[in-house]
Amino acid sequence: MTEQNEPKIYKGLAGVLADYTAVSKVMPETNSLTYRGYPVQDLVENCSYEEVTYLLWNGELPTAEQLAEHNAAGRSYRELDPGLVAAVHSLPETCHPMDVVRTAVSYLGTKDPELFTPDSDHIRLVGHHLQAQLPMAIALDIRRRAGKGVIAPDPDKGVAENFLTMVFGTEEGSPAADPEDIRAFEQSLILYAEHSFNASTFTARVITSTRSDAYSAITGAVGALKGPLHGGANEFVMHAMAEIDDPAKAADWVNARLDAKDLIMGFGHRVYKRGDSRVPSMEKAFRELARRHDQEKWVEMYENMQEAMDARTGIKPNLDFPAGPAYHILGFPTDFFTPIFVVARLAGWTAHIVEQFENNSLIRPLSAYNGPEQRAVADADR
Ligand code: COA
Repeated sequence: MTEQNEPKIYKGLAGVLADYTAVSKVMPETNSLTYRGYPVQDLVENCSYEEVTYLLWNGELPTAEQLAEHNAAGRSYRELDPGLVAAVHSLPETCHPMDVVRTAVSYLGTKDPELFTPDSDHIRLVGHHLQAQLPMAIALDIRRRAGKGVIAPDPDKGVAENFLTMVFGTEEGSPAADPEDIRAFEQSLILYAEHSFNASTFTARVITSTRSDAYSAITGAVGALKGPLHGGANEFVMHAMAEIDDPAKAADWVNARLDAKDLIMGFGHRVYKRGDSRVPSMEKAFRELARRHDQEKWVEMYENMQEAMDARTGIKPNLDFPAGPAYHILGFPTDFFTPIFVVARLAGWTAHIVEQFENNSLIRPLSAYNGPEQRAVADADR
């Protein structure tokens, strides 16, 4: 092929506008992000995770009555499913927790007789079903690996508090977390809830575009989110911080990794090149958690790593950088950070599945072939 008719390849689809979306807008030039027109910082300060989920799924913030209905619909699925409990227990404790989540979504899909109902309301019910059941599967997985029994869900609690209770509560019913911890956790869920056409959301949209069901779309999205270049980064941030251990050694560690041409997880972004709009809100929550839990060592680590990265590369942190140590302070085992991200992002995935479903076109790009010229088996050297 001559240079003149060399096709233009958009590697990684970078810079490609794949479709319209009314769910959220990422504005890298002003470092801002809106969900249905509302700045994410405004939502973090003034809304619950359930209100944000309602907004993403329905386009407007709920009235008190709409919120009550939304909560009742979601909480009606909060019953321990013995089949799900057995499915989680059947999986090896050595597997990655994201594999348990992926299997749980797939399992839950097999229980839905209305799977192929071509209807947006049904897709939102799938969102409710998974938002109720996945925190249970994750809490159960955390606890079984620690040799602890299961804690039943509480239909009177919000998503954040119920999740923390199922993970950290005691079977005698003592409180799992104080209100400020619950609020910090809820804020992280709001910040992780949605982010336009990221890799996992796009995966969900591709699967939906084939007219497959929402469980299949979310199973695929979980697989995409697991990768360290996407959701898996929050775990790697904490693994790095734990490995460095002493904040005074952070700069040397960062520089050694950069010398070795390694990626430093929790930094950089495909869309934001001058900083991630979600970082200031998460950093505020993280600093507050560290102060209240007397774990300011992680703040020092955060600052030293960030300073060293900035001095050497100018690359800014993304949401995973403050979220990783915040989840550590809350007490979550590190390899469960990405499953938490799944629970939060169910809000955005569901909104995008509905949007794709309502205005569908099969997603099927073209490729430029660069393999061998056509040839005959008879000529093969065999
Ligand atoms: N650590 C070290 N170098 C980094 C980096 C990081 N976290 N992020 C980007 N870079 C470097 C790249 O290696 C590249 O260097 P080069 O020009 O010498 O090849 C340069 O910065 C440009 O980066 P680019 O690969 O164009 O960015 P991208 O848009 O393709 O990738 C990410 C974006 C998110 C995949 C990338 O920044 C990354 O891998 N970050 C770490 C994983 C992470 O935190 N993911 C969560 C995202 S929310």
